[in-house]
Amino acid sequence: MKHLLGIDDLDTPEIAALLDKSAHYAQGLEENRWDRNRLKDKIVLLLFYENSTRTLTSFDIAARRLGAHVVTWHPEISSVHKDESFLDTIDTLAAMRPDAIVVRHSEYGAPGFIAGRVKCPVINGGDSWREHPSQAVLDAFTMIQAGKKLAGLRVAICGDIAHSRVASSNAILLTKMGAQVHMIAPEFLMPQKFPVEGVERFTSMDEGLKGCDVIMMLRLQKERMEMSLIPDTATYFREYGLTQARLKRAKPDALVMHPGPMNRGVEIADDVADDPARSLILKQVANGIPVRMAILDMLMGAP
Ligand code: CP
Repeated sequence: MKHLLGIDDLDTPEIAALLDKSAHYAQGLEENRWDRNRLKDKIVLLLFYENSTRTLTSFDIAARRLGAHVVTWHPEISSVHKDESFLDTIDTLAAMRPDAIVVRHSEYGAPGFIAGRVKCPVINGGDSWREHPSQAVLDAFTMIQAGKKLAGLRVAICGDIAHSRVASSNAILLTKMGAQVHMIAPEFLMPQKFPVEGVERFTSMDEGLKGCDVIMMLRLQKERMEMSLIPDTATYFREYGLTQARLKRAKPDALVMHPGPMNRGVEIADDVADDPARSLILKQVANGIPVRMAILDMLMGAP
């Protein structure tokens, strides 16, 4: 692996290797025993053109845990506000020779464009509605850690599928690893075409949740929607919100996930999000650290 631009670029052994390395770091963190100098003196540049809490912070912590230095570029105080172009910004930052760049951008394919201009590994921290590969790896790792086998697993991905890079990367990864994916959304939030073959489409939550082992809820990505598309949230919650009653449509031991940020009372009820027996949401956040340590190690660490 030279870069991590999308799950679509990875084959099954590469995904399995990332999951194994994530398990290695999760155990190391648990036992307070890992190589703290693995990336000693390397510089990781965090280049986030869009807001983030989980991805930005966990890449920062993961890099520091491995001994790297982190430089966070802030668009709001950058020379973007003096009309410097995207291209010149990238060339300028690349001239400072970071050892890796983690980038989030609203434009489709921006991380790949950057990878074509710089000499270091580029990691996609989320681009447009296309891909969010590190999120998909941490979601799969969280399912495995919860005792699930990806092959044969039935996973429902529910809500704003059309605008979600999380849905896209998860559908690709889960399908490659042998899981069965149900995409559940109202017609106006369902894409014309899925990023991968073999995914089943449902417009009814009650139908789509039947027999599912894992339910992954998604936020309405209002920032990527026309105003006219934004639904009335009370109606949306009534038809597509995950409540304890609706959870009963899935398998009795079904687990609940959400990549965050959550909009409680819009796509998920409080008592589902906070259900200690069913919700993996904070475990997903915690697993962002070992998974991103694994990604940084595999791209930047000595062989
Ligand atoms: N899941 C996720 O990408 O969250 P952030 O936007 O907070 O990084």
